[in-house]
Amino acid sequence: MQEKLDVVPFVSVDHMMKLVLATGVERFLIELAAYIEEDFRRWECFDKTPRVASHSAEGVIELMPTSDGETYGFKYVNGHPKNTRSGRQTVTASGVLADVGNGYPMLLTEITILTAPRTAAMSAVAAKYPAPNGARTMAMIGNGAQSEFQAIAFKAILGVDKLRLYDIDPSATMRCQKNLASIGFEINACSSSQEAVEGAEIVTTVTADKQYATILTDSMIGPGVHINAVGGDCPGKTELHRDILLRSEYPPQTHIEGEIQQLDRRHPVIELWQVIAGKAPGRSGERQITLFDSVGIAIEDFSALRYVRDRLDTGLYEELDLLANPDEPRDLFGMILRAAKAAPMPQKIGAL
Ligand SMILES: NC(=O)c1ccc[n+]([C@@H]2O[C@H](COP(=O)([O-])OP(=O)(O)OC[C@H]3O[C@@H](n4cnc5c(N)ncnc54)[C@H](O)[C@@H]3O)[C@@H](O)[C@H]2O)c1
Repeated sequence: MQEKLDVVPFVSVDHMMKLVLATGVERFLIELAAYIEEDFRRWECFDKTPRVASHSAEGVIELMPTSDGETYGFKYVNGHPKNTRSGRQTVTASGVLADVGNGYPMLLTEITILTAPRTAAMSAVAAKYPAPNGARTMAMIGNGAQSEFQAIAFKAILGVDKLRLYDIDPSATMRCQKNLASIGFEINACSSSQEAVEGAEIVTTVTADKQYATILTDSMIGPGVHINAVGGDCPGKTELHRDILLRSEYPPQTHIEGEIQQLDRRHPVIELWQVIAGKAPGRSGERQITLFDSVGIAIEDFSALRYVRDRLDTGLYEELDLLANPDEPRDLFGMILRAAKAAPMPQKIGAL
């Protein structure tokens, strides 16, 4: 069959929601996690360009590109804290996957929704290796938009079925508890983060505070706990007390955006991909505190884009007429002239 050279599959917000629902949230997270794990295992083949950020007084616009040499992907994402005042979201994202061989886009998709399962699947993959064996109880501090996805990913991938929830806004905890009620969790709503972490083998922090915050202090974390720190993902934005970082022996990722921006640059870290690829140990003792310092990197989005591309067989996309495809590749002008003959001309604009 002749490949259509002028169209690019486009996954809208509506189609993304249908894809998640048709697949089932748990299965979606498990499959997405497998793509992330596969890509982390071949970490060394990826082009690791840092995100390209354009800052303004109102916010930031970033491009997050990467390539494995065969496929290129990038996410466009903004962060505008004041947007909610005008009814807009603070963060929105979209992404492209392209064929490195010919440069043609293979997929254009929304990623605002997709980012939540990709972040949750990433956290669960990162916990699989160092979290205590058979861990079933997770404290979740911050019960906002990301929280249900985090909980379901930890249930589907690690078997966590007991949740201890805390949010400074009790209505957020109530909503999270209600949304997760039918999914088979035993849920405790707690009145402080101190209470939430009691008895938890895994602690997830997923709060949104724009500056250095101390959601967890050193005394709250006992031996053997795995911490999944998701909310500290910008320069100047952290959730953990520095002393926890000094006690943790598994603080991967970046010194710029993550929790470990609080530490000296020379502080030793083990990168997650090394653990997944079997090049470095995960947990090496029952009392060890392990920490996944999640900041969200381009490879995670690349894996998510690959997953969505492989799910196009569901038919949940539309064909976007995005690429000019003249009969003769160099005859772009002729293509416009032929279009004028084929269809009635729109009214001329201005007095040219
Ligand atoms: N690492 C990544 O890849 C990644 C991806 C997506 C989002 N994030 C980050 O995750 C965080 C949560 O995102 P979201 O979309 O769920 O935000 P959200 O605004 O929907 O929810 C955040 C919740 O945290 C609560 N909160 C704030 N301060 C708190 C505190 N001191 N103690 C307890 N709860 C507190 C708020 O009341 C709110 O309910 C954000 O910081 C976001 O930037 C990280």
